[in-house]
Amino acid sequence: MTIYDAIGSAYDLVYPDTAEKVPFVTKLLRTYGKHSVLELGIGTGLFAVPLHEAGFDMEGLEISQVMIDVVGQRAPRLKIHKGDMRNYTINRRYDAILALSSVLVFVNSEREIQQCLERCYQHLESKGILLLELPNHSVEIGLSNNNQEVYHNADQSMIVVIQSAVEGHDWNETWHVFRRDGTAFNHEKTVCQEYLYSPTSLAAQLEGVGFKIVETHGDLLGSPFDESNSWRRVLICEKRD
Ligand SMILES: C[S@@+](CC[C@H](N)C(=O)[O-])C[C@H]1O[C@@H](n2cnc3c(N)ncnc32)[C@H](O)[C@@H]1O
Repeated sequence: MTIYDAIGSAYDLVYPDTAEKVPFVTKLLRTYGKHSVLELGIGTGLFAVPLHEAGFDMEGLEISQVMIDVVGQRAPRLKIHKGDMRNYTINRRYDAILALSSVLVFVNSEREIQQCLERCYQHLESKGILLLELPNHSVEIGLSNNNQEVYHNADQSMIVVIQSAVEGHDWNETWHVFRRDGTAFNHEKTVCQEYLYSPTSLAAQLEGVGFKIVETHGDLLGSPFDESNSWRRVLICEKRD
């Protein structure tokens, strides 16, 4: 059982705005002339399913069987490889690889980030594009350390409370998922850990693995990046030959 198996059925409640970000990713792939795309940690397919429906040759890599099953129901022809982004081999290369919604930092160390980047390099075509959407932790933590957010569905049969806090080397989101069961609620607690990566080390790692950062944005709506104010750090990286 992986962490996301436990929160898979609650995931979409917490990310209602992903559809607004899909056009930026679509435009980017078209601008760079990329057609075959692998998404690492495809989740419930909030990006991948619309990209697949838009005609991209889309595939996913995912560690959670619950997530794989959700995407399988939504888009039965979308191929998903079950595996770990730190250590996978797919017998093909892609024009682009996506690592969105902080996926690259769902690891335990810089060494594991390095492993993911090396896998990306190996699975990209010449001049392939790696799109990383990461947190800009200093801003996010400054605004929301020890805060909590609450989400619920229309009939309030599912309520999700997410509490965020720095703990050691991690920025932890603790998900409390309450599901109505008759007159009571079941409660399930899951901790999602984000590694507090160093942007400087990441830039050096990308360079060392063989990527060039060609664009930086402040979110997936295309806002300019501002180190002191941007909530997100979006890096478009090109594979050097
Ligand atoms: C925050 S969700 C993002 C889902 C999707 N990329 C999106 O933006 O909507 C992170 C996903 O990455 C998956 N994941 C986490 N660690 C992984 C790993 N080591 N290898 C493959 N998938 C992983 C989780 O199971 C989860 O589905």
